[in-house]
Amino acid sequence: MAGGNAAPGRNEGAGNGAPVAAYRGEILHFVGDPAVLGDAAHRHHADGVLVVRDGKVAAAGAAEEVLPTLPPGAKVTDCRGKLIMPGFVDTHVHYAQTDIIASCGAQLLDWLERYTFPAEAQFADPAHAAEVADFFVRELLGNGTTTAMVFATSHPASVDAIFAAAHARSMRLVAGKVLMDRNVPATVRDTAEGGFDDSRALIDKWHGRGRLSYAVTPRFAPTSTERQLALCGRLLDEHPGVFLQSHVAENRGEVAWVAELFPWSRSYLDVYDHYGLLRERAVYAHCIHLDAQDRRRMAETGAAMSFCPTSNLFLGSGLFDLRAAADSGVRVGLGTDVGGGTSFSMLRTLDEAYKVTQMAGQTLSPLSAFYLATLGGAASLRLDDRIGNLETGKEADFIVLDLAATPLLARRIERTGTLAEKLFALMILGDDRAVHATYVLGRLAHARAEA
Ligand code: GUN
Ligand code: ZN
Repeated sequence: MAGGNAAPGRNEGAGNGAPVAAYRGEILHFVGDPAVLGDAAHRHHADGVLVVRDGKVAAAGAAEEVLPTLPPGAKVTDCRGKLIMPGFVDTHVHYAQTDIIASCGAQLLDWLERYTFPAEAQFADPAHAAEVADFFVRELLGNGTTTAMVFATSHPASVDAIFAAAHARSMRLVAGKVLMDRNVPATVRDTAEGGFDDSRALIDKWHGRGRLSYAVTPRFAPTSTERQLALCGRLLDEHPGVFLQSHVAENRGEVAWVAELFPWSRSYLDVYDHYGLLRERAVYAHCIHLDAQDRRRMAETGAAMSFCPTSNLFLGSGLFDLRAAADSGVRVGLGTDVGGGTSFSMLRTLDEAYKVTQMAGQTLSPLSAFYLATLGGAASLRLDDRIGNLETGKEADFIVLDLAATPLLARRIERTGTLAEKLFALMILGDDRAVHATYVLGRLAHARAEA
């Protein structure tokens, strides 16, 4: 809590003398999974105040309790009528595919050949990489996403560009160089040893710098030799704390190809397991065509799934089974998967996630949805001790949402009664227009231009 022992008239909180800033509005955040804890999983203050000091959350609570604790003269930004929540966490996205979003007419393997590899080849040029990285990071912030786990390309300069863009804005970001040493054009191919050396150099350069973390990034099993996959395991063993990101079981043609390339494997996931790539901080996108044993294996090794609904629908890949994932106890986050995905907005992504569960005769409650987009994503990246909610001491990454951003949203919100109804209308109708402001470490990083 912000304390009251500062000098009168000074913008200071208790103890360390750092200035405090306060934001008054409706506040929602999660302290656990609603599927497990029910209503005890969230904290909601219809009239709340968030207090930030030194880039960290100093307090979040009811206005009547928090306001009296503020030091005299503390600046209180009036966000009444708006909803304050933690920044969104996008657990799977490709920055180098920004310019091929919305490319028509192909399923995964053709889409990679026709659109993705040619686009990624351009990232050998550091100037191109820097220009796209800057646009991408601004797009994340404009959509309220404050942390993302990001694929670069196979070119080390592409990793430098995305980390530099995030670092310049003090964003917490996980990224890595794509490893692929077979079955791809020479313009994007590396070698097992070259990819290993480049990854090691990039880890030394970026991992742990500011809020950045490195992820060893084998694209997917079909584009890595067994030697390359073995070296991925070595990189992880040699660098505790480094992440891993890849794709698994997205598309039926892909699954059949993996069975041909790795005839000894029990399943697609088993290939990664064989090389020690299932572990904590390993995040696998899609996870559609898995069986119960695969899900159990992910849960027991601590690996996480990234559910990417807009991509799965756009590429016709299939329907993620959220209930089976939850029942297995595996961690699940939400990913936009741009450019296979069709939006940078986690609100648009929640809309499609809801529809995917509907198609499977399941349902995604609005509270579970916003948990997935915030603390659930942070937990799947094992960053929930730092980000994902507004508990005291957390890094102050938060967003201010405007529930009257469009005439239709405003009209529908007016006719809601409960918090759950309001959240549901927001996730079905909302997009980047609902993101009024985005704060990173307590600093304004995006403000929506007035219409
Ligand atoms: N599998 C391997 N690479 C990719 C990619 O870039 N996008 C998606 N959606 N799936 C992949
Ligand atoms: Zn992807």
